[in-house]
Amino acid sequence: MSQPVHLSARLRDVRGSAIRDLLALTAREDVISLAGGLPGTDLLPRERIATATASALADAAVVQYGETAGLRRLRAVVAAHETERVGRAIAPDDVVITSGSQQALDLVARATLDPGDTVVVEDPVYVGALQVFQAAGAALRPVPVDAAGMDLDVLAELLAAGLRPRLVHTVSSFHNPRGVTLAAPRRARLAALADRYGFLVVEDDPYGLIAFDGPPPVPVAAHGERVVRLGSASKVLAPALRVGWLTGPPVLAAAVERLKQCTDLCGSTLTQAVAADLLADTPWFEAHLHGLRTALGRRAVALAAALHDAFGAALTCSTPAGGMFCWVEFTDGTRPADLLPHALRHGVGFVPGSAFAVGRPVDHAARLCFASSPEPMLRTAVHRLATAWREQRALRRNVEGCGRSSNCWSATPSSPTTPSRP
Ligand SMILES: Cc1ncc(COP(=O)(O)O)c(C=O)c1O
Repeated sequence: MSQPVHLSARLRDVRGSAIRDLLALTAREDVISLAGGLPGTDLLPRERIATATASALADAAVVQYGETAGLRRLRAVVAAHETERVGRAIAPDDVVITSGSQQALDLVARATLDPGDTVVVEDPVYVGALQVFQAAGAALRPVPVDAAGMDLDVLAELLAAGLRPRLVHTVSSFHNPRGVTLAAPRRARLAALADRYGFLVVEDDPYGLIAFDGPPPVPVAAHGERVVRLGSASKVLAPALRVGWLTGPPVLAAAVERLKQCTDLCGSTLTQAVAADLLADTPWFEAHLHGLRTALGRRAVALAAALHDAFGAALTCSTPAGGMFCWVEFTDGTRPADLLPHALRHGVGFVPGSAFAVGRPVDHAARLCFASSPEPMLRTAVHRLATAWREQRALRRNVEGCGRSSNCWSATPSSPTTPSRP
């Protein structure tokens, strides 16, 4: 090609997802992946999806284009679920079905942001949100996440000092990547701050229904109306359906629908019909959710116990109450980004915390997904991780020793078991 292809300035601002890159490496058959946020394939209801697909196909309309805002039946069942979750009536007309909730996030950003507008994001952040807001040319203001979710004292201080964001993005329940849940008083306070300062909260909630014990957390949207809620069938039914949804102020739902016309005309009528069937079949869906929560709860406990046994005090691990992620922090100076190549060689993958950092450096933390593998595989994964960690620690000590001594051989990551000679 004689002329270079011009790419937009907007694209140059979008950081590639280290996680998507990692998925290629962890797809190797010999690697147990704790990296991707993938629900375990063994927990996805393939048979029920097959019967729903077969009965959906009896209706010829299911192989046609559909309405941009989504299949009526699905909008109605999502509206009913959301009405129950937020405790006030949500009409089917206020629901837009999207291709996964990721598309909803992208359309909300495009509908509300002009380049340079400020968006508050959590730190560490859901990488998919970071990419969307970068693509929209937003000015990002990170707010730290602690054990009770986004630190609202920090947000309130920024607002009091004059910050005027258009959007505040939060993964309110069982956070990706931190695993934590925004505490109930913080939810009410966030909704009140939105009313006072005129921003919209984007409540990104694909994990809320996966609470291991007790009911799902009450949404931020239950406390106010300046909240756009994003939901997804990906974690509770199957990611391959690519069914997500948005509920929020009607003017925003209408704007998103208009932008969706530009993007893909409409979602898949077939997979929307399948999702509608499964979500409307209350006895089946409740039993399925119960099984999913129980299985994921067991996986979380198994991973945390195996980490505790293998690493002792060298690592702290959050205790997830739902969702799919464990956030670990090394207390012995280990940098997960340095550990990762060793771990991959030993057949285990994870995501270093640095992949989720926006403001503060996150050098000693990592996200481990416990959802993708059954318990015995999780224990094998931790065994491999601990072997890689011991190997890397020995190397580090050798290198540090070499730093102090002038006549020793260097050990390289490609020959990690080569002992360094004094
Ligand atoms: C917080 C969060 N939001 C949105 C998504 C996108 O999900 P979907 O498959 O519905 O597009 C994910 C996927 O991992 C996620 O973790």
